[in-house]
Amino acid sequence: MNKPVVYSGIQPTGIITIGNYIGAITNWLKLADDYDCIYGIADLHALTVRQVPSEYRQRALSFFAQYLACGLDPEKNILYFQSHVHEHAELSWILNCFTYIGEMQRMTQFKDKALKHQDNINMGLLDYPVLMAADILLYQTALVPVGADQKQHLEITRDIAVRFNNLYSPTFTVPEAYIPKQGARVFSLQDPTAKMSKSDPDPNAAVSIIEDPDSIMRKFKRAVTDSDAEVRFDPESKPGVSNLMTIMSEMGGMPIEEIEKNYSGKGYAVFKSACAEAVIEHLKPVRERYAALTGDKEYLMRIAGEGAARASAIAGRTMAKVRRKVGLVSLK
Ligand code: TYM
Repeated sequence: MNKPVVYSGIQPTGIITIGNYIGAITNWLKLADDYDCIYGIADLHALTVRQVPSEYRQRALSFFAQYLACGLDPEKNILYFQSHVHEHAELSWILNCFTYIGEMQRMTQFKDKALKHQDNINMGLLDYPVLMAADILLYQTALVPVGADQKQHLEITRDIAVRFNNLYSPTFTVPEAYIPKQGARVFSLQDPTAKMSKSDPDPNAAVSIIEDPDSIMRKFKRAVTDSDAEVRFDPESKPGVSNLMTIMSEMGGMPIEEIEKNYSGKGYAVFKSACAEAVIEHLKPVRERYAALTGDKEYLMRIAGEGAARASAIAGRTMAKVRRKVGLVSLK
């Protein structure tokens, strides 16, 4: 590894949505040449909510295939499952001892999830950001490309890193969040004031990156907008239309102003179909590659094994440093 490191990940819950794609994955694709990039399937994180084991295994594998289908080249990027590299759990424990309960209780995502899963407010849910800090700090990460909802987790990661570095000596690179100017928060197609969520119970709220074209078209046609029928970018008073414009701009590769000009006076039906077309067209190669990859478990496991070995080699170096700094006895 000789370029600055990029690290990010996705939890294998629900579906990989066009929100995840626009907010995070498109930037992963852009960074491949200038950084050493590491992308994990955050399968320890998603255990904070109850999973059906057989479905969970399938979904994690499918997400891994979708990483590849998006065009992440396993030669250029390290792609692996978080649970295959034991250093994540190990560093997470040590960082727990440098993190305050109050800091975790103040996390917005913890508060939201605790409200949603009142019957299962487990330690993992509270500790979630520390595991995420461990993910990032293990690899001496410089840049973390994520959507806007992860900003607070990045801030606490930086705080933990600085705290540790100040107590001992520089040990961790202090990472920066990389949040896109446009598309950092893609909204639900059914409630344009809420984030598009990969585990939304309403199937019309989110679109998967491997969804079939008819279904994508149907969901966009049903997308909630407003009643004034004017295609104008105004997130405050026209959140639905503005969200669709952002999606179209990102997927179709054209600026918002151009969309505004092209669809002015054409009405929502035409605009929504065009937006769906842009998404369908952009995701066509993803869908095709996924179809070819998904049955090839042997290949997927080979890539995952290689990724885990490469990740572990880097993570092991950081762990050796951390063990030494905190004063653990070394066998060597
Ligand atoms: P997760 O799995 O919820 O989401 C994966 C990525 O997608 C972004 N994202 C969005 N971007 C724009 N609009 C949306 N509606 C939207 N929804 C999600 C997220 O910001 C994220 O970048 N804790 C993380 C996973 C994780 C991680 C890490 C990320 C685990 N370890 C280390 C970075 C570094 C999560 O739950 O993301």
